[in-house]
Amino acid sequence: MSLVAFVAGRSPGLTTAVHAIATAWPAHRRAIVAEVDPAGGTLAARFDLAPQPGLTDLAAAGRRGLDPDTVLRHCRRLASGTIALVAPVSPERVTSALAVLGSVLGEALDSIPGTDVLADCGRIERRSPAMELVHGAPYVVLVVTPSLEGVAYAQARMEALSIPAGRLALLTVGERPYPPDEVGRALQLPVVGALAWDPAGAAQLNSGKAPRRSELRRTATVIARELCGFLPALGPHGEGAVPESDPDAEPYASGMVVTYPSRR
Ligand SMILES: Nc1ncnc2c1ncn2[C@@H]1O[C@H](COP(=O)(O)OP(=O)(O)OP(=O)(O)O)[C@@H](O)[C@H]1O
Ligand SMILES: [Mg+2]
Repeated sequence: MSLVAFVAGRSPGLTTAVHAIATAWPAHRRAIVAEVDPAGGTLAARFDLAPQPGLTDLAAAGRRGLDPDTVLRHCRRLASGTIALVAPVSPERVTSALAVLGSVLGEALDSIPGTDVLADCGRIERRSPAMELVHGAPYVVLVVTPSLEGVAYAQARMEALSIPAGRLALLTVGERPYPPDEVGRALQLPVVGALAWDPAGAAQLNSGKAPRRSELRRTATVIARELCGFLPALGPHGEGAVPESDPDAEPYASGMVVTYPSRR
């Protein structure tokens, strides 16, 4: 289905945001997290997992091309229930895996049947090895701390992104001191929502225990639904659908305006 690349201004809780949104993805679609942050992976270390299978051995397997099955064979289920392609903590290893895979990785992640891929691409840097994937992604979400310095940093780095309008939207982590619509106006970006700054919810998610109700989960659910509204629909006969069973499903948030072109 679709690749959504998440990039950060300056360490606003990007990995937690991507993970929380994937955990809250609507139950009739399937989401996996792909860690491609050139600063190094977090999830395997956070959940005390060996880094294999993951991005490094996917690079070895994909030297001559990648098919969706090969990608999925290198993913694993985290204790939170989320399926993830995890990256090694070593920035050098992530960088060399991205160099080996080149544009093939983004193309493969964007075409896994019935599966949306949420990629943690790390901070925006013009020379970031993840930029090829970001530029190839049909949807990009810029994750920002809604503070003066968070906005200033994002503003300064946005030219490095040079993503055409319509493919880029904003997500804030927290709503203070500036609400997301004000940050959106400052950065001239459509707003996909605000994820709660919720230390207890983040600790719970990152502990690997079963997801519980929290502000983090509630807001992640709203954001996940908002994003899904702009991704390609399932096939004409519901191909790719998984059974509806999410007890946390909530109605769409009102008042969040995103202008991604719909591919439906
Ligand atoms: N929404 C949130 N509410 C409360 N705490 C959070 C939130 N997001 C992240 N944190 C906390 O901040 C810390 C760093 O989070 P995370 O790893 O998601 O950041 P990051 O931006 O991906 O950092 P890095 O630059 O290292 O990749 C973690 O301890 C996490 O629990
Ligand atoms: Mg991170």
